[in-house]
This record gives sequence, C-alpha cells and structure tokens, in this order.
Amino acid sequence: MKEFTVGNSQDQVISLFPERVIKRVALGEKILGVMRVGMEFYAFENSCPHRGASLLQANINGQGEIICPLHQYRFDLKTGQVKAGYCRDLEVFPAILTEDGLKITVPDS
Ligand code: FES
Repeated sequence: MKEFTVGNSQDQVISLFPERVIKRVALGEKILGVMRVGMEFYAFENSCPHRGASLLQANINGQGEIICPLHQYRFDLKTGQVKAGYCRDLEVFPAILTEDGLKITVPDS
C-alpha cells in the first residue's frame, strides 16, 4: 500500500475539489477520479470496469452511486460494488481529509 497526499491543507483541498465534481488525479502510475460530497471524499479508478469508458464525465445519483456515461452501469461510490450491469466491481480507494491534505491510499501495482 502507498499513501499519497493531495494538497497541503484542508482549505486548499476543499477549494481544489468543488462539491460533486469529479476530478482527475494522477498518483504514481494510477489515474483516479476523486469527488467530494461535503467533507467526504471518494476516490475510484478512472476507467469503467465494463468497457473502459472514462468516469470523469459520470453522473452521481441520490443513492450515492456513480453512473457510467457509456452504458449507464451503476456502482456504489463507497464500496465500488456494481449495482446495475454485468462486470466486476469498481476499484475504490480510501480517501481521508486531514489537516495536512487529502490522504489517498492505493495498493502497490
Ligand atoms: S463502459 Fe461503462 S457501462 Fe459500459
């Protein structure tokens, strides 16, 4: 596991991530989508597990699910579990806001 820090203060991170806007974040070899809802952050793989569409243009519904723009498969933002569709789960990563920035943990690849 590798921990990355995005930004260097809580305020900076909040201004970097407008609420409910998916941002592209490169951490080492991995490209993630990262989104903020209130003070909660969600980090997930950038490509849909179905056919690889970019999730940067995905929508979020009221059930906390991310909806792929290509075939509308849905995934739980917290767990990555596929909720509608036939593919593996979305890979999600712990993302925690601290005084020193946003800490995101990714597995070693
Ligand atoms: S590529 Fe995402 S649902 Fe098909």
